[in-house]
Amino acid sequence: MKRVYVGISADLLHHGHINVINEASKLGEVTIGLLTDKAIASYKRLPFLPYDQRKIIIANIKGVKDVIPQETLDYAENLRKIKPDYVVHGDDWQEGVQKKTREKVIEVLKEWGGQLVEVPYTKNISSGQLNKALREIGYTPEIRMKNLRRLLNSKELVRILEAHNGLTGYIVENAKVEKNGVIKEFDGIWISSLTDSLAKGKPDNEVIDFTSRLSTINNILESTTKPMVVDGDTGGNVEHFASMVKTLERLGVSAVIIEDKTGLKRNSLLGTDVEQIQDTIENFSAKIKTGKKSQITNDFMIIARIESLILKKGVWEALIRAKAYIEAGADAIMIHSKEKSFDEIKDFCKQYSKFENKVPLVVVPSTYSHVTEKELIDNGINMVIYANHLIRAAYPAMKKTAESILLNERAYEIEDSLTSINDIINLIPK
Ligand code: SPV
Ligand code: MG
Repeated sequence: MKRVYVGISADLLHHGHINVINEASKLGEVTIGLLTDKAIASYKRLPFLPYDQRKIIIANIKGVKDVIPQETLDYAENLRKIKPDYVVHGDDWQEGVQKKTREKVIEVLKEWGGQLVEVPYTKNISSGQLNKALREIGYTPEIRMKNLRRLLNSKELVRILEAHNGLTGYIVENAKVEKNGVIKEFDGIWISSLTDSLAKGKPDNEVIDFTSRLSTINNILESTTKPMVVDGDTGGNVEHFASMVKTLERLGVSAVIIEDKTGLKRNSLLGTDVEQIQDTIENFSAKIKTGKKSQITNDFMIIARIESLILKKGVWEALIRAKAYIEAGADAIMIHSKEKSFDEIKDFCKQYSKFENKVPLVVVPSTYSHVTEKELIDNGINMVIYANHLIRAAYPAMKKTAESILLNERAYEIEDSLTSINDIINLIPK
């Protein structure tokens, strides 16, 4: 019996997949190399179904003998293990993201005289289309909530961008670029207290109450499917935080970040120019514990944000707090800084990497924006939040437009820098 290998994601199965497996089984015994979540996330969006569920489905398809994990987009490791006589794939990978993968498959197969067989691509259906249709229907709160943990387990760095209304949520959901054959998108949405307050014409000092924040959150949940991380400010008093956790979890928000400050909260980037009081380790740990007890699922995350560097208390103080907050049950640690230099955070990361009991590490590089994502990864950081960038982009553009209309006593002069009326009225699908 000849050996046949089929590499597949099998997320949203359709008759195109069945056709490939059918053709493969005519050639011999079929082993499926099922791409892990990590392998898929390395070049496109996380699959809708997690690996274990996809495995159950594909293992029960007629003609499949065996299912093994394929840990990378590259087939080489599995192929050298199995030495199949044939690899079967749809002929749609000759161009685009998978072109290089295909070339490598042909090269590796040559080592033992194996052959690539390509099955004509089934027209009018693709996982991409199904994925889009699924997104239009919307995700359930449970599925959306779980996806942040899945992303943290599957990606080197989870990339989050701020949104402050439905339209900016739509941008975070849909912005996409292709670079070196990899499709890059944001993984999730940050609900910033700063930009939510600014959009409502208010300062960032918790004057916008939670009910008002919830209305922003709801608008954004309606125009998106990606996981949402909410800036919970200080979390308020313990009782209010318990209720905040329940509300956010019920809505399908993936995580709340609370900062270890107390009293009138001021934006961290104001640093020590204004009075900011850090909470005691005991109080804040108790708040984390109460929050953890209040949630119902195991999926919702409470992220503890350490303000020690903002308040110039040094890296050691921050590390002591990190340890205590992890012990209290924090699911991740956000270490914040308002310095232009990355040095302090780097020091923190170096010491943090020695912790026995670690949770994912989150940063918000608003002031040290020169640091690349690769450097964040190299320092063991797991999540980056671009916390205020869409509102900072919009503000000067809007101001310039207002001033141009005043100066020119008509809108004609600014038209070229505006989105056309036709494009804007058709931006959001019906
Ligand atoms: C926010 O975006 O509201 C934050 C981050 O909390 S910062 O503005 O840096 O405090
Ligand atoms: Mg904030």
